[in-house]
Amino acid sequence: MKFFQLSDLRAPIAVFDSGVGGISVLRALIEEMPNENYWYYGDSANAPYGTKSLEKVRELTVAHVDRFLMKGAKAIVVACNTATSAAVRHLRQKYPSVPIIGIEPALKPAVLSKNNPNVIVMATPMTIREEKFHNLMGRYLGMAHIIPLPCPGLMEYIEHGDIHSLELEQFLGRLFEPFEKKKLDAVVLGCTHYPFVSRELKKVLGEEVMLFEGGPGTARETKRRLLEAGLLTDSRKKGSIYFDNSQPSAEKQRLCERLLNIIP
Ligand code: DGL
Repeated sequence: MKFFQLSDLRAPIAVFDSGVGGISVLRALIEEMPNENYWYYGDSANAPYGTKSLEKVRELTVAHVDRFLMKGAKAIVVACNTATSAAVRHLRQKYPSVPIIGIEPALKPAVLSKNNPNVIVMATPMTIREEKFHNLMGRYLGMAHIIPLPCPGLMEYIEHGDIHSLELEQFLGRLFEPFEKKKLDAVVLGCTHYPFVSRELKKVLGEEVMLFEGGPGTARETKRRLLEAGLLTDSRKKGSIYFDNSQPSAEKQRLCERLLNIIP
């Protein structure tokens, strides 16, 4: 990886997650800003984050961001709901002049999708436990019936490249067993891995259930922040994507490319 100046408009935007999940956000970023260069980093060696302690996830996240900035990334997208709730405030205090964009469960569009809808928020145990999520949920109480659903064990399927199998369908079936599916209006995919299992989720929940993901909103916010900072690329050519992983292998690289090319 080349070293860049912070002021270099063609320096990459670092996008990171605990593994391959953030590729659902990268996909939205590329759609919004195709000419930017991206440095995607998956910390697969330390995945999952969602069942770790807050301190551990914060420590890992800060270490990654220190490295991205040392190497000259012009902006950081924390494409992980768990790492965002653990560390984004801390990161913004540490690097006030760098655009640092986090992700949160797309609860707002789900709540506004219908009058008083029944909404389930799927996320990691840490995302659901943290103050950031409680504040978010607090904003919409009274406007919807919201049920948080921690999903330990789900990201591992995607991390292993399983986005379509009987075993996965059965796992999802067990997860939603306690709920009356006919009464469910919307499901928020509050972990960046989950959009990759949308198809299986629809099989379990029915085609009518609306699914909401945070990637597109995060991509729009990233563009807005880069514009504001005068950091949008001046290139007119399609940008590059560099896949980096703490557990690199040809298989991981192939999985990243495969997930990026899936049309949601
Ligand atoms: N993709 C991450 C998120 O958005 C979490 C997966 C994990 O547990 O590491 O929360």
